[in-house]
Amino acid sequence: MRTNETVSLLCNHVSVRDFTGEPIAPEDFDAIIEAARASSSTCFLQLTSIVRVTDPEKRAKMAVYAGNQAQVVNAAEFIVFCVDFRRDLRVCGEADLGWAEQLVAGCVDTGIMAQSALTAAESLGLGGCFIGGLRNHIREVGELLELPEHTFALVGLTLGHPAKRNDLKPRIPVSMLLSENAYRDATDEELAAYDKVLTNYYGDRGMPGTTWKGKLDPILARERRPFVQAYLNEQGFNRK
Ligand SMILES: Cc1cc2nc3c(=O)[nH]c(=O)nc-3n(C[C@H](O)[C@H](O)[C@H](O)COP(=O)(O)O)c2cc1C
Repeated sequence: MRTNETVSLLCNHVSVRDFTGEPIAPEDFDAIIEAARASSSTCFLQLTSIVRVTDPEKRAKMAVYAGNQAQVVNAAEFIVFCVDFRRDLRVCGEADLGWAEQLVAGCVDTGIMAQSALTAAESLGLGGCFIGGLRNHIREVGELLELPEHTFALVGLTLGHPAKRNDLKPRIPVSMLLSENAYRDATDEELAAYDKVLTNYYGDRGMPGTTWKGKLDPILARERRPFVQAYLNEQGFNRK
């Protein structure tokens, strides 16, 4: 495999949740936002807005909304990536909004931009972690950040100087990730082999006996934020 500084940076990504408390230099923060701003965008619709949360009271509330995640308070920066069709609607008053496809486009644009920000931060020696947990209270987050109709908070990002870095988390192998010309189901043997890899990884991280299924069950084998659908509908998304 060929590598370079960028490939190596991406391959060595780990989420950082513990920070030193040192602030991020303003020029570094600006670089992160500029890098995010340069991201690709569906039909150049530019479907994202970012809210930087500096108010300590709002940060504390966001941490609770995200499921009591201390990193939201302890990080040097916490920024929230929002899907935003409002700006386009203001420019194009005839915009026919509410299509499921538009929701998908907004999430793709916003996810791509969020990753650009994290990669830029990591390239500057910083670390961070996405906070999807804020969707535990997606409505309250929207109210706190005063998000109007045709917008919603998709994901947050903590950023700061790393105090601790986890080991690399082993991803599914390329053989399971990449197929040619058509989708290929993983074999039972491939699934079992990766389960072994993950179980070993969690064992090394002090969670012996934790399996792939054991990690998926609490997330997938139950109802998942059922209030999100009604909230998105109210905000003008996914109505048709
Ligand atoms: C959209 C998204 C939301 C996430 N939300 C959270 C979160 O709320 N809290 C958290 O600690 N990690 C969160 N993560 C980080 C993942 O847990 C992490 O990326 C994954 O376990 C792989 O670990 P790594 O990034 O260290 O390789 C999120 C990641 C993504 C992409």
